[in-house]
Amino acid sequence: MDKYSKIIISSGPTREWIDPVRFISNASSGKMGFCLANEASKLVNEVVYIRGLTDPKYSEPKGARIVSVETTEEMKDAVLNEISSSAILIMAAAPADFRPKNSNESKIKKEEGTDTLVLELVKNPDILASVHEKIQANSLSNILRIGFSAETHFLDENALGKLKRKNLDFIVGNYVGKDSKGFGDLDTSVIVYGKEGSRKELGPASKETIAKEILEYLNIRSKEGTF
Ligand code: CTP
Repeated sequence: MDKYSKIIISSGPTREWIDPVRFISNASSGKMGFCLANEASKLVNEVVYIRGLTDPKYSEPKGARIVSVETTEEMKDAVLNEISSSAILIMAAAPADFRPKNSNESKIKKEEGTDTLVLELVKNPDILASVHEKIQANSLSNILRIGFSAETHFLDENALGKLKRKNLDFIVGNYVGKDSKGFGDLDTSVIVYGKEGSRKELGPASKETIAKEILEYLNIRSKEGTF
């Protein structure tokens, strides 16, 4: 990874408040981002770990500078603040795609006589799209962008669509779901898709091993001069 001086890794879920006691989030633990950050500090001097509400076990990777955020907007600002030429950005986070249109200042109470509650949500910004805009606007160069695509169905199709739509160099795809192995502590397997059409399967193995193998694979591809 000699061409790069910094690796930025986003990790974990973001949180969007509905009222002072309730929020929208997701089941990401932050383990993959944490394992990647631990490995990344063996490759470059500067590793930045931008974490959402990760499990406490996955909050302090060795050798990384830590930036804590809560919402998707805050994660976007933190990533944009760190992105620079000659950097690798690994978006392992699972940012909440929507936030409540209005976050109530007081606790929402059950209303007599109705069994439903309608919550209006608005779309959050796509962080990778904002990164692309910044790269273009500031003519930043030599930036490697890697995304993740956790899917319940049609992995190839969904991952390849995101690779293109989000202007990524690589996307790491895997299956997730409450009964499958993508989220949490269990072993997993992933496919690393490259923008030039490459497809590399890794695992099944622990996330520690998969993270190491992802970075090794990128390192080899970088040495081959393929990006
Ligand atoms: N991502 C992002 N900004 C968001 C949501 C996701 O940059 N607001 C990043 C993730 O960190 C990941 C990649 O985009 O690297 C794909 O995330 P995913 O949630 O699978 O994609 P979405 O665009 O949200 O698509 P969908 O939820 O419709 O599957």
